[in-house]
Amino acid sequence: MGILCMPIRSVLGECAINAVEIRRGLSEEHMPALLDWANTGGPGFLKQFAGPKWRYPLTEAQVMAEVGGIFTIFADGAFAGIVQALYRRENRAHIGRFLLDPGLRGTGIGERALGRFCAMLFENETIDAVSLNVYRFNAPAIRCYAKCGFGPVPESGTGDPWDSCFMTLPRGAANPR
Ligand SMILES: CC(C)(COP(=O)(O)OP(=O)(O)OC[C@H]1O[C@@H](n2cnc3c(N)ncnc32)[C@H](O)[C@@H]1OP(=O)(O)O)[C@@H](O)C(=O)NCCC(=O)NCCS
Repeated sequence: MGILCMPIRSVLGECAINAVEIRRGLSEEHMPALLDWANTGGPGFLKQFAGPKWRYPLTEAQVMAEVGGIFTIFADGAFAGIVQALYRRENRAHIGRFLLDPGLRGTGIGERALGRFCAMLFENETIDAVSLNVYRFNAPAIRCYAKCGFGPVPESGTGDPWDSCFMTLPRGAANPR
C-alpha cells in the first residue's frame, strides 16, 4: 500500500476518536475486514486473539457459528473490531475474541471499548463478575485489561510460550473513566 493510500491515523501515528460504541451482532459487510485482521498474522496470531477453537484460516462459517455472542465495536461509526460473550458460569460472564482494527491498537480504544462492553454486561444485575483468559506474552492486551480493572496482573512467565492467564473484573471494580 502506498503511503498516500494509508489511513490518516496510521500516517500520523495518532488517534482522535470521539465515540466508541458496542452493538450486539456482526453485520455481513464487516466480515471481510474481520477475516483479514484475523488471518494476516498467521495461525499464531489467530490463536492469540481467539484461542484454540477457531482454526486457521478463520472463515465466515466459523464466525457465523458463534455470531449469537459476538458484539461489534464501532469507532466514530466505523467498524473497529469485535468482542465476544463466550459463556456464563453461575454469576460470571466469560468473554474473549477481543480484536481491534490494527490501525487503532494502542491508542486507548481497547480500554474504552472493553469498559463499555463490561458496563453493558453488568446491566444484567445477576452478573457479579466478568472474566477472560489471555496469553501471558500478550502484554498490550494485559495492559488494556489492567487499565479496565481486571486482575490479577500476571507476572513473569513460566517458560511455556502459550501460558494462559485468567483475569477477572468484579462488579464495582471497573476503573472510573
Ligand atoms: C487487545 C486489544 C483489543 C487492546 O486494544 P488496544 O486499543 O491496543 O488497547 P489500549 O490502547 O487501551 O491498551 C493497550 C496498552 O498496552 C500498551 N502497549 C502496547 N504495546 C505494548 C507492549 N509491547 N508491552 C506492554 N504494553 C504495551 C499501550 O501503550 C497501552 O497502554 P497505555 O494506554 O498505558 O499506553 C488490541 O491490542 C488487539 O486487537 N490486539 C490483537 C488481538 C489480541 O491479542 N486480542 C486479545 C486476546 S486476549
